[in-house]
Amino acid sequence: MSAANLESLESLEQDALQRIQSAAALADLEAVRVELLGRKGKLAGLSKDMGQLTPEERASRGKLLNRAKQALEEALEQRKSAFEDTALHTRLQAEWVDLTVPAPGVRPGSLHPVTLVQREIEDLFVSMGFTVLSGPEVETEHHNFDALNIPGDHPARDMQDTFWLEGGYLLRTHTSPVQIRGMRKLGPPLRMIAPGRVFRNEELDASHEHTFYQIEGMMVDREISVSHLIYYMKTMLEGLFRREVTVRLRPGYFPFVEPGFELEIQCLLCGGKGCPVCKQSGWLEQLGCGLVHPNVLRMSGIDPEEWMGWAFGLGLTRLVMMRYGIDDIRHLQGGDLRFLRQF
Ligand code: PHE
Repeated sequence: MSAANLESLESLEQDALQRIQSAAALADLEAVRVELLGRKGKLAGLSKDMGQLTPEERASRGKLLNRAKQALEEALEQRKSAFEDTALHTRLQAEWVDLTVPAPGVRPGSLHPVTLVQREIEDLFVSMGFTVLSGPEVETEHHNFDALNIPGDHPARDMQDTFWLEGGYLLRTHTSPVQIRGMRKLGPPLRMIAPGRVFRNEELDASHEHTFYQIEGMMVDREISVSHLIYYMKTMLEGLFRREVTVRLRPGYFPFVEPGFELEIQCLLCGGKGCPVCKQSGWLEQLGCGLVHPNVLRMSGIDPEEWMGWAFGLGLTRLVMMRYGIDDIRHLQGGDLRFLRQF
């Protein structure tokens, strides 16, 4: 290799290394690579006249060229990976995620306390051979009153402040109309319960809502007595409160049962001695019940000479309040998640 060529190779190399070191971006590196090492680059230019050299010269020039080429390639590669490191580092800085931060997450829903208690009662009765029925919330006057032995002029209609709708329809004031639907659907003998929402046009306060829940129960068979009724009521209440309960019946008037009762349990808090919860009486009213009135059986196509029945209607909402110590009925339908999340 001539001295001039040798010199220009060296200065080329120095110059290129300089540019590689000071490159500001990957694109600058690429420009140097094309300029020096490309097929039409400067190094290729320097090896053009190799054919005219002696074999010795050719070998030594080849060596020099190769060394220069290698040096440049290495420098390029180093610089390139430095750029890539920086890029990666920048990206990691910008995009890092702290996997230990608690996720906001999906809040699982929970069942409403009324649903919880309703399901418990359903399970209890289903295990004793009862069918769970439901009826419409918009009812006919016939199902809600007449077929329950409450004719149009009956004073008992005033006991339940009814929301009347157009066309003779109403919002059911109790779950008892499902008794009628159940008797007509199933025929005797039958065992059914019917949980559901009922509506009464009441002044609202801590213990009165226009919308609340009841559970109806009914059994029709050949030989039914009050002791059957008491047995099932005790079984239900003991299952619910998970302890022995003492019950008593007091006369109660409902046109669709005869005799009719208010069933009370001895106060679970004071054991009957008297406390604020039972208003010092020692007893808590739980539900209305009785033996199905013969008129009611007859109106639903069941012969009262052959069949008898008992029925009960329980204020599910009130039971839920007792069970969970809820002091204001308005919480139950208020939709406040802070309340609902406690269950
Ligand atoms: N339906 C009555 C009420 O809402 C309760 C009841 C049901 C009473 C069945 C006796 C028999 O108050």
